[in-house]
Amino acid sequence: MHRDLLRRGRLSDDRTGEVMHFLSSMTADHWIAEMDIQVDMAHLLMLREKEIIGEDAARALMGALLSFHEDGVPEEAYDECFEDIHAGKEAALIARVGEEFGGRLHMGRSRNDEVATCIRMRLREELLGCMAAVCDLRRVLLDLAAAHRETIMPGFTHLQHAQPTTLAHHLLAYEAAFGRDFGRLADAYGRVNECPLGAAAFASTGYPIDRAMTAGLLGFERPMGNSMDAVATRDFALESLSACTVMMTNASRLCEEMVVWSSAFVRFVQLADGYSSTSSIMPQKKNPDTAEIMRAKAGTVAGALAGATTITKGLPMSYNRDLQELTPHLWRGVAAARESLVVLAGMLSTATFDTDRMAAESDRGFSTATELADVLVREYGLPFRTAHSVVGRAVKQGALDLATLEAAAEEVAGLSLTERGLTAERVAAALDPAISVAERNAIGGPAPDETARAVAARNTDLAADEAATAGLAKAIETALARLVDEARRLAEA
Ligand code: ARG
Repeated sequence: MHRDLLRRGRLSDDRTGEVMHFLSSMTADHWIAEMDIQVDMAHLLMLREKEIIGEDAARALMGALLSFHEDGVPEEAYDECFEDIHAGKEAALIARVGEEFGGRLHMGRSRNDEVATCIRMRLREELLGCMAAVCDLRRVLLDLAAAHRETIMPGFTHLQHAQPTTLAHHLLAYEAAFGRDFGRLADAYGRVNECPLGAAAFASTGYPIDRAMTAGLLGFERPMGNSMDAVATRDFALESLSACTVMMTNASRLCEEMVVWSSAFVRFVQLADGYSSTSSIMPQKKNPDTAEIMRAKAGTVAGALAGATTITKGLPMSYNRDLQELTPHLWRGVAAARESLVVLAGMLSTATFDTDRMAAESDRGFSTATELADVLVREYGLPFRTAHSVVGRAVKQGALDLATLEAAAEEVAGLSLTERGLTAERVAAALDPAISVAERNAIGGPAPDETARAVAARNTDLAADEAATAGLAKAIETALARLVDEARRLAEA
């Protein structure tokens, strides 16, 4: 076979291997080979339904397509003498059933709508995989949060001890971010799942095709509305990569914390051996390599988005070959995001949190000073700014005991706290991290009763997101199973 039939007419075939390799998308086309067969099946069913193709040709072609579907596209279709898998597979079909029949499949379409349809189909799968993975990660975070509502730890701003919080509160912050990531992926999915097939090169076609039929057979929500847009746009790829990039920044921040928390300085967490590596020279080392690689993958995904946007931004309407160069960025980006989330869920669910270390750090550096200032406001009538100054002055003196506070209040505001009723016991209670946390029970706060409510509410949202993902996946699975059934019926008719 090994001959690009597309060059048989207008062009000579005297190209160097370098040029063939340079022009061919073959190395990335294995991502869409399976989809290309499904696209062919749907197109052929429609051509037959509309009587655009004869019965014998349709039957022979469908038989060959079914054998490609079952055994894979033949190896020779991947030769780089072909621009892409679409041309290679067409040549393989013609080699199988002859040009009289095999040469009829490409009626009413172009590789421009063909490739866009294939990319959207594969991307659907990848997005659903990402959506399921982010749900699994959220489940891990929520389960850990439920178990650590009473685990007091220091909260940080500027990576300085700031105020006590709980591990549950910290993990719920990440879960909230990943919940929004799910929303962005699901939103992108809706726009990915529209069908370009039938747009042909860009100007649609004069054959009496049925675009709604092919869209339905392939599990798409609807045919795309404008045939030029259908082949020209890759905004669906950009927004998918964008959603993945944002999601990976969240994953990367969590990984950064795992790196910091697992260091000997901090010791808040130990990653399981399965998620750690050692050193080739230092036998004592246990390194958080999975977290580090994932921090880097965030850069890989952002780079894929940068590559894809830069490729797209200067292109005139409609299809331009530059778009071929975008597709590998898409696969690299979504694959890195998807595998990262799976690994992250495993890393967290097998990690051991050192709750004693967290508790021991939770009141370091006067981190309950804010609560003490609040108590001076709520119970002893000081304006907040005055209380802030009094407590700050006492911290500067190096102690938050009654005597130091009393002196600070005299100095800063000329008032006596003991005269207003402040006692050493009240000061001690205000400085207790657990009491300070329990006070913070407004919506979204770290108090154990509030995080219990939050975990329950988030579990409800997560269950809905899981069900939605499963529903979308089922719809695709059902459509594609029906497609193959109908293909068999045609082949055997
Ligand atoms: N290999 C091309 C791509 O990946 C496919 C289709 C269009 N090719 C063309 N020469 N018009 O974008």
